[in-house]
Amino acid sequence: MSEVITVTNQKGGVGKTTVTAALVCGLRQRGARVLGIDLDPQGNLAFSLGLDIGGSDTIYDVLKGAKSPYEAIAHTEYGDVLSSDIMLSAAEAEFTSPRREFMLHQLISSLKADYDFFIIDTPPALNLLTINAYVASTGLIIPMEAEVLSLVGISQIQDTVEAVRASFNPDLKVIGLLFNKFNARLTLSREVLEMAEEVAAQLGSRVLPAKIRRGVDVAMAPAHGQSVLTYKPSSKPAADLMEVVNIIAGPRFPAPERR
Ligand SMILES: Nc1ncnc2c1ncn2[C@@H]1O[C@H](COP(=O)(O)OP(=O)(O)O)[C@@H](O)[C@H]1O
Ligand SMILES: [Mg+2]
Repeated sequence: MSEVITVTNQKGGVGKTTVTAALVCGLRQRGARVLGIDLDPQGNLAFSLGLDIGGSDTIYDVLKGAKSPYEAIAHTEYGDVLSSDIMLSAAEAEFTSPRREFMLHQLISSLKADYDFFIIDTPPALNLLTINAYVASTGLIIPMEAEVLSLVGISQIQDTVEAVRASFNPDLKVIGLLFNKFNARLTLSREVLEMAEEVAAQLGSRVLPAKIRRGVDVAMAPAHGQSVLTYKPSSKPAADLMEVVNIIAGPRFPAPERR
């Protein structure tokens, strides 16, 4: 059965695209069939995985019905991607069908035989696109920085999760809160960690044991068209992201044995 995982937080700059790119690349390295889907009109995911952007068919063309997904999916060295661009920002106004919350769900259902994992990058918003992602998902990962204000934002995500569970997708799980740009030596991080455990519990979830440390290689990797996992596999953030890949890959796609 394929898993559909959305990386979400309505706050920008918390690491959604970074985590999505790492999951696409890392799960593929394990031999899983993975499709990365960019629902952010800023279109950063495809760029981060080395695709030339502009001119190619996007998720917008597919949702509109103008292209088949097979025409729009790009195959890169690091994984398959359905890219996005600024046109997608028209979605809220343009897609008005009564089942408009299910557009992505339908699309993914039609591709389930082809992929083990769908990893969805989302915009920094809680809008129709985000709802589509939650409706289509088996699980959510919520990257965040270890700051008190970030926790306040999580309660808004919680409202959306509960609304989607009530109306559209009762099985929606929150896989976990994922600390990014983490510095374990800061007392603040530790205090926030305790508070985050409480917030996670309210979502029926947990703070993931993997925490992503800050490292300049993460910010450099997109310029090289690849995830930090392949750009600097020896870096601390890459090791941390690999732990996240382990959690998601599970026993079906184990890490190759170390020699
Ligand atoms: N662990 C990290 N260490 C250093 N820089 C990071 C880390 N995670 C993300 N960044 C950088 O922070 C910025 C925002 O990350 P990004 O993944 O684009 O966030 P989002 O998609 O949530 O807006 C990017 O420049 C990215 O390279
Ligand atoms: Mg992003």
